[in-house]
Amino acid sequence: MDGNERTDGTEGPVADITWLGTPEGHRAIAEAGALPDTEAPGAVARLRARYGGHAAAALTQVALRRAARVKFGADAERWLYTRAGLEQATRPAVAAHRAATYAAAGARTVLDLGCGIGTDARAFLDAGLDVVAVELDPVTAAVAAANLAPAVAAGRARVVTGDATALLDGLWSPGVSVFADPARRTGAGRTWNPADFTPPWDWAVGLLDRAAATGGVGCLKLGPGLPYRLIPEGVAAEWVSHRGDLVEVALWAGAGAGLPAAGTRTATLLDDAGAVHRLVATDTTVPGREPAVGTVLWEPDPAVIRAGAVDTLAALLGAGRVAEEIAYLVGDPAEPADAGAPPAGAGAPPADAGVEPTAFATAFRILEVLPAREKVLRAWVRERRVGRLEIKKRGVDTDPAALRRRLRPSGPYAATLVLTPTPDGARALVVERAERTSPPPSRS
Ligand SMILES: C[S@@+](CC[C@H](N)C(=O)[O-])C[C@H]1O[C@@H](n2cnc3c(N)ncnc32)[C@H](O)[C@@H]1O
Repeated sequence: MDGNERTDGTEGPVADITWLGTPEGHRAIAEAGALPDTEAPGAVARLRARYGGHAAAALTQVALRRAARVKFGADAERWLYTRAGLEQATRPAVAAHRAATYAAAGARTVLDLGCGIGTDARAFLDAGLDVVAVELDPVTAAVAAANLAPAVAAGRARVVTGDATALLDGLWSPGVSVFADPARRTGAGRTWNPADFTPPWDWAVGLLDRAAATGGVGCLKLGPGLPYRLIPEGVAAEWVSHRGDLVEVALWAGAGAGLPAAGTRTATLLDDAGAVHRLVATDTTVPGREPAVGTVLWEPDPAVIRAGAVDTLAALLGAGRVAEEIAYLVGDPAEPADAGAPPAGAGAPPADAGVEPTAFATAFRILEVLPAREKVLRAWVRERRVGRLEIKKRGVDTDPAALRRRLRPSGPYAATLVLTPTPDGARALVVERAERTSPPPSRS
């Protein structure tokens, strides 16, 4: 128990959170947020005089709301947080996508087992589903209860404080759907070892079978680096990237419209406009293709790479791999717009002249192909008067930041180099993004 906590429950972190969820608590947070300097002793003292021991909690929420803007945008102001809960919270666009998947599959009630501050629970509610949210940590559960209060009042949500592994049987009913986002942290920080997950890995995986067997949908959210060998046979895995950041792998079980099919590997790309681009990995192998001046280099989204869908994408684009195992693709520039093949991927970005649009990869035009030798590259940087140098690489043992320093960029132009193995040896490709409108560096 916290040193300040009284046994009657009127003080301490849980009481603070419950109070912050009241109209008086909202006022205290608003006043704390309006202070020009939250560290100034006079201002804080005034807040304390009005709100007593809860003043510190109001100030903490102001700091957490500021930190939350990156993830939650304007909605950050409507929520309460714990620091760990904020760090572990699902990005709202990703939670909304997941909730839409449950809703489309016919789920009606979701048990959110380890709900944290309630980000996924809130998305389920917004998608029209009812929620039973279980949280082990009492302070975090109080935060979830405050964040879900309108739905709790409307009888659409319950927040239960306790151990989901002990409570599960009492909460289960036929047809119910489940979601778990196990905490992947220990006292020492983030853990990649499933043996350290809470609730435990074996129990969480068992939820998938149980949900599917009783007519519900089951989903586990895990870190995108989850070793492939841990993905149970027959389970669908969906790697999700949001604005190009690979954020999670979701393991799905159950039957219903729009659920990824059993055993499949899918890359799902989301943006803030609500566009969803899905690519299911197929058993395809594409031939290699030499990078040449005038061809297009594609860098697949990290979700495509992790889902093992690079060759599937290459086949869609009519491209080949720059080298075996290397996730750069080489393809031809597109035919003129009226004669071109249909774009790869629904809702793809607008076509850039000469490059096939796809949401699943970033396109670069290859302007030059150089030997990947430092002396050659230093001379190139000097001759082209390149001052801003971006270096990308795959499959070569180079530290881009250290190489950039050694190449001593100086001058008015910007350039991008891509270091990659090719069947003829390592190469440095001078490329420009296909969307780019500014001219490439001068060759004179
Ligand atoms: C990664 S967080 C969930 C984040 C949440 N999905 C969100 O987006 O806000 C996992 C949560 O599970 C809780 N937890 C861990 N073990 C649990 C258990 N056995 N029963 C209930 N909750 C548990 C942790 O306290 C933590 O808040």
